[in-house]
Amino acid sequence: MQQYAELSGMKWLSNRYAYPLVALVMLASIGLQVIWLGQLFRAQQVQVKRDLDQAVANAASQSDYLSVAQGHENSENFKNFFLSPDWLQIKQAFTRLRDRQFGGSFTSQIRPDSTIVTIGIHIANDKPRVGHRQIIRTYDEGETLQTITAADKRDLARMDSLVKVECLRAQLDLDTYHVIYDYDSGKPESPAIWKKAQQAAYRSQQYGYNLNFFLHTYQLVAQSINGVVLYRMRYYLGSSLLMLLLTGAAFFFLFRIMRSQRLYTQERLAFTSNMTHELKTPVSVIEAALDAITRYGLARDPVKLNNYIQISQSELQRLNLMIDKVLNLDQLDNGQVLLRRELYDVQQGLASVVSSMQLRQAQTSSVITYQPASEPCFVGGDPVHLINVFYNLIDNALKYGGKNARIIVSCKCSREDIHISFQDNGPGISGIYQERVFERFFRVPENPDVHTVKGSGLGLHYVKQIVEKHGGSVKLQSEAGKGSTFTIILPAYHEV
Ligand SMILES: Nc1ncnc2c1ncn2[C@@H]1O[C@H](COP(=O)(O)OP(=O)(O)OP(=O)(O)O)[C@@H](O)[C@H]1O
Ligand SMILES: [Mg+2]
Repeated sequence: MQQYAELSGMKWLSNRYAYPLVALVMLASIGLQVIWLGQLFRAQQVQVKRDLDQAVANAASQSDYLSVAQGHENSENFKNFFLSPDWLQIKQAFTRLRDRQFGGSFTSQIRPDSTIVTIGIHIANDKPRVGHRQIIRTYDEGETLQTITAADKRDLARMDSLVKVECLRAQLDLDTYHVIYDYDSGKPESPAIWKKAQQAAYRSQQYGYNLNFFLHTYQLVAQSINGVVLYRMRYYLGSSLLMLLLTGAAFFFLFRIMRSQRLYTQERLAFTSNMTHELKTPVSVIEAALDAITRYGLARDPVKLNNYIQISQSELQRLNLMIDKVLNLDQLDNGQVLLRRELYDVQQGLASVVSSMQLRQAQTSSVITYQPASEPCFVGGDPVHLINVFYNLIDNALKYGGKNARIIVSCKCSREDIHISFQDNGPGISGIYQERVFERFFRVPENPDVHTVKGSGLGLHYVKQIVEKHGGSVKLQSEAGKGSTFTIILPAYHEV
């Protein structure tokens, strides 16, 4: 009883608050995860852009260095200077001057003890006339526009591949392209590509990539960076998803347990009230019989006395059966039922159960017909339990079949197995209950006889457990209003 109290104490949780509470918890945890992941996403976006900046800057300073490295290959100082962030800053400032009518030049001169680097800034003296912009550019001796353009093309290709290498090193596996700007005018070489780049997720600063001549600047563009961002977040995304799944699964199982506990409590309570009633009836019948015997001195009337004693005996038998059922239930649930298997002809058992049931039904208009197989059907089974099984199935057919029950019991055996079927013309069992009738305590709630026909809801549970313990199975074919057929399939006995 304490268990019931505990369970009914939990009722408030399962009924009214649990579902909204869980929905709230789930929503809150989904919401928090979404917010958190959103923040992380934005932070990672910033980080990816920073990494891209770094990659282009590295590539640009390497490209710069390579453009002047010839002749200085052995000078660590020279290399360190051109690959230093400080130089990169000076260089960027120098590059940005171009829009203001400045031109730039660069020379280096190797001396035995040092290298002189000269950065030239060329400033136009007069305001240029519109449409005649003055371009100031110095070429080293012997260089023509053609040779410079060719060299610039080569250096641009080198810059581009350096950028690719740097991106790969920083694990930035992105679809990128570049926009080339005219060094002097700052106009893009290809307006179409430039236009496309305006919608891109990432555009780098513009970098010069060559120190000998200043024709173009390079800008790296990535149309979308979300792929890399999500890839970098994969562990976070995975763990969030896992968390949600685990929480969901935990709640799901919790609900299932709560639900089955509630159903179990309800069924158990129904069983107790049913059982009390069932136990009380025979006790009060016997009480009344004994009372009559003593009160009316029936010792002198042997016919009546015998009659009352018989009634009492049959009631005691019923009581015994009922107690057995409850005991069996406990043993079945604890897995303690031990089968005493022996070579057993099921037809013998069927015949005896059918004939005793026929006797019991003699006064009513129900008819039980037995259609035996022509040869004996042997199983390796426990006769006591198998007889109980047959008894339960025929008892159900009679109980639920009403006054004019027509019951056909038949047996067929093949080499592999034995089919025993119990067919009735009763109310039938509708599809939704066909699995559940085998659960313990379950009784079909729509059955019109559910209150008049007494039962504990244990019979079929017992039948199924016992048959399965014998290695067999129980099948139910039924339709509401069209009778039911229970078929037991048991493996036939084979000598090993
Ligand atoms: N032949 C049948 N025709 C119609 N309904 C049936 C038939 N057999 C069983 N049922 C339904 O299945 C339910 C479960 O049957 P089960 O034998 O397990 O319990 P019970 O007959 O109610 O009680 P018990 O057998 O323990 O006295 C019954 O309550 C009844 O609603
Ligand atoms: Mg029954």
